[in-house]
Amino acid sequence: MTPKVKAFFDTATNTVSYAVQEPEGRTCAIIDSVLDYDQAAGRTNTQSADEIIAWIKSEDLQVAWILESHVHADHLSAAPYLQEHLGGKIGIGANITVVQDTFGKVFNEGTAFQRDGSQFDALFEEDDSFHIGQMRADVLHTPGHTPACLTYVIGDAAFVGDTLFMPDFGTARCDFPGGSAEDLYASIQKILALPDDTRIFVGHDYKAPGRDEFAWETTVGEQKALNVHIGEGRPLDEFVTMREARDAKLGMPRLILPSLQTNMRAGHMPEPEENGQSYFKVPINAL
Ligand SMILES: [Fe+2]
Repeated sequence: MTPKVKAFFDTATNTVSYAVQEPEGRTCAIIDSVLDYDQAAGRTNTQSADEIIAWIKSEDLQVAWILESHVHADHLSAAPYLQEHLGGKIGIGANITVVQDTFGKVFNEGTAFQRDGSQFDALFEEDDSFHIGQMRADVLHTPGHTPACLTYVIGDAAFVGDTLFMPDFGTARCDFPGGSAEDLYASIQKILALPDDTRIFVGHDYKAPGRDEFAWETTVGEQKALNVHIGEGRPLDEFVTMREARDAKLGMPRLILPSLQTNMRAGHMPEPEENGQSYFKVPINAL
């Protein structure tokens, strides 16, 4: 089964959002949407989400699911805004509860912040499956970048979030709280066990030395042969040493603080204070 896939690239955060549609029908899912955010002004903007909405309407599609591959640390999710305008259920990995627990502590959230994933409509675990119209989607739990990362396998397409990137760029960082290079290695082996001609759609692209265009689609076969971090059967210990050395040199993503506080709430802003205003917190020297 070969679903139709439409990609939306956000240049501000290098994020790729996808609409995946059943081959013979009008039902689709949206994966990893972006709510634009002007950090300096503390102001959100729905331009990226509106582009997706306009496209869905122009194609006359029904949205069954609004899926997250994980709690993103580099962009805010537009899931609630899309749900308001298009319908659909919001789904994420069941280990969101671990992420909520970790960052509930980091941001000193009170009891109003539920750590049970109840902000989402569905929590998926390894081997779960669900339907997008007539099309079946299978869930792989692929932790490492974060504990709740999922890969959605839909027909011949795998939406891998932040696990593998394009072969010339490599793999996702593993140094956020709850991340693990060992876990990422094991997760990637699961993805690479899919048939070689499986289309892989990555969650971000940053170009790579020698490549001038953004790209987001590759295959399992290409990843196995060419991935600069894990191709040609690179062993676990070599991968972990490489990954941890690289991660030690990376700065925090520009939007990590507002992203986490939004995305751990399924894309909702923090509860307004008594003046009706929502605020993001900045924990000093905590990350
Ligand atoms: Fe991420």
